Amino acid sequence: MVKMMREILPRAFSAKPCRFTCYATASQSTLAQPCHENEPILPKMPPFDYTPPPYTGPSADEILAKRQQFLSPAVCHFFKNPLNLVDGKMQYLFDEKGRRYLDAFGGIATVSCGHCHPEVVDAIVNQTKRLQHSTILYLNPVIADFAEALASKFPGDLKVVFFTNSGTEANELALMMARLYTGCHDVVSVRNGYHGNASGTMGATAQSSYKFNVVQTGVHHAQNPDQYRGVFGSDGLKYAKDVDDIITYGTSGRVAAFIAEAIQGVGGILELAPGYLPAVYSTIRKAGGLCIADEVQSGFARTGSHFWGFEAHGVVPDIVTMAKGIGNGIPLGAVITTPDIAKVLTHRTYFNTYGGNPVCTAAGLAVLNIIEKEKLQQNAFTVGSYLKQRLTSLKDKYEIIGDVRGRGLMLGVELVMDRELKTPAKAEILHIMEQMKDMGILIGKGGFFGNVFRITPPLCFTKEDADFLVDAMDFALSKM
Ligand SMILES: Cc1ncc(COP(=O)(O)O)c(C=O)c1O
Repeated sequence: MVKMMREILPRAFSAKPCRFTCYATASQSTLAQPCHENEPILPKMPPFDYTPPPYTGPSADEILAKRQQFLSPAVCHFFKNPLNLVDGKMQYLFDEKGRRYLDAFGGIATVSCGHCHPEVVDAIVNQTKRLQHSTILYLNPVIADFAEALASKFPGDLKVVFFTNSGTEANELALMMARLYTGCHDVVSVRNGYHGNASGTMGATAQSSYKFNVVQTGVHHAQNPDQYRGVFGSDGLKYAKDVDDIITYGTSGRVAAFIAEAIQGVGGILELAPGYLPAVYSTIRKAGGLCIADEVQSGFARTGSHFWGFEAHGVVPDIVTMAKGIGNGIPLGAVITTPDIAKVLTHRTYFNTYGGNPVCTAAGLAVLNIIEKEKLQQNAFTVGSYLKQRLTSLKDKYEIIGDVRGRGLMLGVELVMDRELKTPAKAEILHIMEQMKDMGILIGKGGFFGNVFRITPPLCFTKEDADFLVDAMDFALSKM
């Protein structure tokens, strides 16, 4: 069957997309006439009242050639013909020809308020004009105001913030603090998780495709409480027992920390099985360890039901790490912890040149205000629930959709060739992604096998956008 689909795929959608408008070309619009009653018609993007300024820079081909010559070969791109995106406005992106795309990936779950949200732009521009950089060795009001505002979003004793430039840096710092605080080295992380790519975080990351063959010590990878592919289904307590066993058999009995995402993002939008986190937190604390919540993707209202992903599990971590959505795309990360744990960094000098700089923290403060003012958490909940329900109905229509999961505007759609064996539909997902791009939708992809659509748009995504996305996916699937 796989072979047959691969043979059919290249012919499935041969019309060239229009380069200037968001709608179909004449040749595509002939497809808009359904042959059969239940066949979907080519969907149209919701209207949007914004025209970007004309672009006069180099073409996509010229940029690609320069990238290939001057950038690391590790710098990769989506799509056979990569897009040159030159403008953004809220949930939309524009290419060099002014063609509009619905952004359903949000710069990898990073654009929280919307591309170039005017209040974030104002905050950045105004602060840049006044003072761009001085280091934390001098006082400046913005870092303190943002730390205070951020701390107000956390429960319990989580009140002390340290700013970084990225999620990797935040997790490196969190792991080091846990090791210093406990005097232990062993860390437990969850298989299929992603926590960054520096020396400590690459150790905690548990997917071979993101691990280089360099020294990574002291991390034990526990069974993934994956409700779709995991051996214990949705029984969180059975998976939690593995952490207990790791501590008993693989360590001195004492550990530094446990680190996990509430919803694995890079791993394919996998929600931890219910009951897992409370049980593991209790096991880790009995072994003297600290519990670290990696909220780099699931934080800042993305999950809709809560502001932080861990809250859905009824736990309070000892350390929380953040990045991505915190700055709507500006390089900013943070670690929050208790005053007691934070003190460990005073044993030596810990310093980060750019961490907490006025421009990034001004952006962060604006983001927090916008999430509140524009009720983006509520929107993520309402639109995300609607989108999930529509995607779930697609699953009833197409065998290739093995699972629809996630919360709020952090959703995953896993494609499989066979629902029984769950064989990853790797080539098929690439094909559908290309088709959706041609229809004007940029969707993400991930999961260990690269067969999961990741839907993590800016939180201003509307129900009309959700309808457009699902109709386009329906259309692409119907042509396979
Ligand atoms: C959950 C999680 N933690 C940490 C990171 C690392 O963040 P960064 O790429 O900003 O270093 C990522 C990046 O995708 C992530 O998804």
